[in-house]
Amino acid sequence: MKKISIAIDGTSSSGKSSFARKIAEKLGYAYVDTGAMYRAVTLYAMRSGFIESDGTIDVPGLIVGLPDVRMEFILNPQTGSNELWLNGENVEQQIRSIEVSDQVSAVSQLPEVREQLVLLQQQMGAAKGIVMDGRDIGTVVFPQAELKIFMTADPEVRAMRRYKELLDKKQKVSLEEIMENIRKRDLADTTRAVSPLKKAPDALTLDNSRMSIEEQIAWVEEKIRHLTEE
Ligand code: DC
Repeated sequence: MKKISIAIDGTSSSGKSSFARKIAEKLGYAYVDTGAMYRAVTLYAMRSGFIESDGTIDVPGLIVGLPDVRMEFILNPQTGSNELWLNGENVEQQIRSIEVSDQVSAVSQLPEVREQLVLLQQQMGAAKGIVMDGRDIGTVVFPQAELKIFMTADPEVRAMRRYKELLDKKQKVSLEEIMENIRKRDLADTTRAVSPLKKAPDALTLDNSRMSIEEQIAWVEEKIRHLTEE
């Protein structure tokens, strides 16, 4: 079977990660959650004092500090998922917190941050056999990917998914707070100057507001079959 690259982009909490992880598992491909990488840089910036309480970013400070950010995805045998380690520490929980979610759009708008992460992502996917999800994978990171998918779902559906996820992790937040965060991030992600979230012209749209994960996988398996036949 021919190895391909699969680029998945879409709005926040549209279910990209679960979908991408499942596809990678089925195909035996590597999975890279690029949102986790932007979140890790944000956590690093917060911890290093480069983000003030009012959200102001010390951009020159952060840029100088970027070479100190060492990121690795390491398999957790208990969950079977890759988790993000930042400078030797598993930060999978911390990068999903509402505090990081509130700051990540601002950090991911910085061209210097994007440049570094895009390079890293291109290296990770150079050998194909990869499923990568994010906002600019089909447009910037792998514009030559054989399969590009643009995922979305109604904002209310996405907010409810995020709410349940955080409840499961015992994080205290209100649905309103999440709705507000999703609204803000949609706006920031689609209107930023550098690599805004947009559908690549040759991407397939998947609106999963009313689809189960099984239905989504069945849909994509059909597409993959055609592309990997030799
Ligand atoms: O997918 P996520 O919600 O975990 O992503 C977190 C943030 O990172 C999101 O607000 C946008 C940003 N991001 C990005 O700008 N480019 C990517 N390829 C992935 C995420």
